[in-house]
Amino acid sequence: MMVSGDGNARANLVNGKKRPDKVQVDVDQNVFMVYPRQSVLITSAHDGKVNVAAIAWTTVLSCKPPMHGFVVSPQRFTHQLVSGSKKFVINVPDRSIISQVVKIGSITGRKVSKFNQVDLTPIPSLAWGDQGPPRVAECPVHLECEVRQAIDIGDSTLFAGEVVSCSANASLIKNGLYQPGLFEIPYHLGGHEFVFNNLKIHSF
Ligand SMILES: Cc1cc2nc3c(=O)[nH]c(=O)nc-3n(C[C@H](O)[C@H](O)[C@H](O)COP(=O)(O)O)c2cc1C
Repeated sequence: MMVSGDGNARANLVNGKKRPDKVQVDVDQNVFMVYPRQSVLITSAHDGKVNVAAIAWTTVLSCKPPMHGFVVSPQRFTHQLVSGSKKFVINVPDRSIISQVVKIGSITGRKVSKFNQVDLTPIPSLAWGDQGPPRVAECPVHLECEVRQAIDIGDSTLFAGEVVSCSANASLIKNGLYQPGLFEIPYHLGGHEFVFNNLKIHSF
């Protein structure tokens, strides 16, 4: 392959175009520099209390065993309930309940029932029935998880849970396989701002 002898000229090019100018950004802004992030509803239950919270800091952790994690501040009621029961459900909301997602993420369930406040419907989990956190009926997708590790990191805790049951709206299953990308998923941009996945599928 022929390369230009002019190293400086090449260093100023990225993909054949002028290299973008870079500026330093205050480290305080780091979090939102990896946004938007998919936001889910985590349900929890312990000692007769049931709760639901909006969570954007989630991740897949392992395939075998199947593990997912979420990160939550110890100030949240959710932290207290998940620490107590060692169970949580990841419910994936769709665009139709975005105003409820915002409200759920703005108030604590310590003194009020958020399910009543935002008019969402708790239904029993598949793994634990009424003996664990419920699923949110309005959400199309649910992962029921049992906590295997809780790791305090800085000002938050990572709850790592093994997935013991998955369920989804029947309309999202074709030939026994879950079809991602068939509904509009909210991604949090910060504050009260969200974007949604573009449902046009591109193959590369
Ligand atoms: C879209 C969205 C995403 C959020 N993500 C997180 C998160 O990842 N971790 C966290 O600790 N709080 C997060 N919050 C804030 C909690 O949802 C909020 O503090 C809530 O009131 C906690 O409820 P609880 O005290 O009933 O658990 C988020 C809020 C919104 C609106």
